Amino acid sequence: MRPRSLRPAAALLLLLTLEPQPSGTASLNGSKWTYIGPHGEKSWSKEYPSCGGLLQSPIDLHSDILQYNASLRPLRFQDYNMSASESFLLTNDGHSVRLNLPQSLHLHGLPFRYSAVQLHLHWGSPSDPRGGSEHTVSGKHFAAELHIVYYNSELYPNASVAIDKPEGLAVLAVLIEMGPFNPHFDKIFSHLQEVKYEGQNKSIPGFSLEELLPERPHEFYRYHGSLTTPPCHPTVLWTVFRNTVKISGDQLLNLETALYCTGRDDPAPQEMVNNFRRVQKFDERLVYVSFQQVPGLTYAGLSLGVILSVVLAGALGICVVLAVSIWLFRRKKSKKGDSGKGVIYKPAIKKETEDHA
Ligand SMILES: *[C@@H]1O[C@H](CO)[C@@H](O)[C@H](O)[C@H]1NC(C)=O
Ligand SMILES: *[C@@H]1O[C@H](CO)[C@@H](O)[C@H](O)[C@H]1NC(C)=O
Ligand SMILES: *[C@@H]1O[C@H](CO)[C@@H](O)[C@H](O)[C@H]1NC(C)=O
Ligand SMILES: *[C@@H]1O[C@H](CO)[C@@H](O)[C@H](O)[C@H]1NC(C)=O
Ligand SMILES: *[C@@H]1O[C@H](CO)[C@@H](O)[C@H](O)[C@H]1NC(C)=O
Repeated sequence: MRPRSLRPAAALLLLLTLEPQPSGTASLNGSKWTYIGPHGEKSWSKEYPSCGGLLQSPIDLHSDILQYNASLRPLRFQDYNMSASESFLLTNDGHSVRLNLPQSLHLHGLPFRYSAVQLHLHWGSPSDPRGGSEHTVSGKHFAAELHIVYYNSELYPNASVAIDKPEGLAVLAVLIEMGPFNPHFDKIFSHLQEVKYEGQNKSIPGFSLEELLPERPHEFYRYHGSLTTPPCHPTVLWTVFRNTVKISGDQLLNLETALYCTGRDDPAPQEMVNNFRRVQKFDERLVYVSFQQVPGLTYAGLSLGVILSVVLAGALGICVVLAVSIWLFRRKKSKKGDSGKGVIYKPAIKKETEDHA
């Protein structure tokens, strides 16, 4: 059973961890958003109007809205080789577990240069087999989802300025499935017990972020969307990797059970579960994809599978028509033969009967 208590989580906004809120007033009321209850996602837009606005994320990625785009360049990661001597601060922010990242980690391959801010995860709960990813593919949820958040450091001085500006943010999303034990993700997961309660933090050894990415990272979905948590600013250029990474069942269970949304001494502790936003409407937008599926997408947005089926069905149809024609032709010919024989034979009968007569 999920605890229903909804003591508001403290004022820790997703991106504004290292910096004070840029426009002070907006944050004071806003901190108490949750995923369930009276401050759940249906109520977010009351205090965060953008959450009820345009270009919201996450979305369902399905073939109707996908378009292959040959001009999408692969991402390049600069300074991703963090040595273990550097450290990252791991924090429970009351909504997720977050790892603050150094701004020296740059992302290239987008229209601007972006610098790292933080990463965090979204997940489900052990009692709910549907999974806790935010993005879905053809309606399917994955077990969990990793977000690596960047701000546009070419146009803006820091993340808190960039957060509500055009082209301000870029997020990389990694879909997570169950599979074998993942030693790379365990560099985060092995410290969850140390940030069990909201507001707790722990310095952990640095590592290369590229270790967290799936195979073939040049295959991705790209679209313009929003933050998936309040304040939901529609300023995010999303890259959702096509391929998943795998973590073990034990690792997933650890993620789903280790953390609380509430502080250490809270009399009504609330488990941190199902911290994912439901998929949003996606009207009149397209998602560009950097890969052509087999069977999959062509330029026209038609699946190769469909085209193949049509061609095969056509060929089969022609064969059937040919076969039937040949059969009919032969039948006709042989009928003609029969009647010919008959013609020859009939007079003979006639002759016979005539003879008898
Ligand atoms: C972010 O940049 C703005 C504008 O330069 C500045 O006023 C603000 O103090 C900066 N915030 C941090 C945390 O550096
Ligand atoms: C917080 O919300 C209350 C009631 O909705 C409102 O009266 C108050 O002005 C808000 N405070 C801020 C700082 O937005
Ligand atoms: C491909 O994507 C770029 C933006 O990355 C866009 O400007 C261009 O129109 C797209 N091309 C097609 C064929 O949709
Ligand atoms: C990253 O680290 C690995 C192992 O330490 C090394 O082999 C590789 O050359 C490094 N790559 C870069 C770009 O520094
Ligand atoms: C980490 O947590 C400790 C104790 O709760 C606190 O004193 C410290 O300021 C926190 N550090 C950061 C960088 O948030």
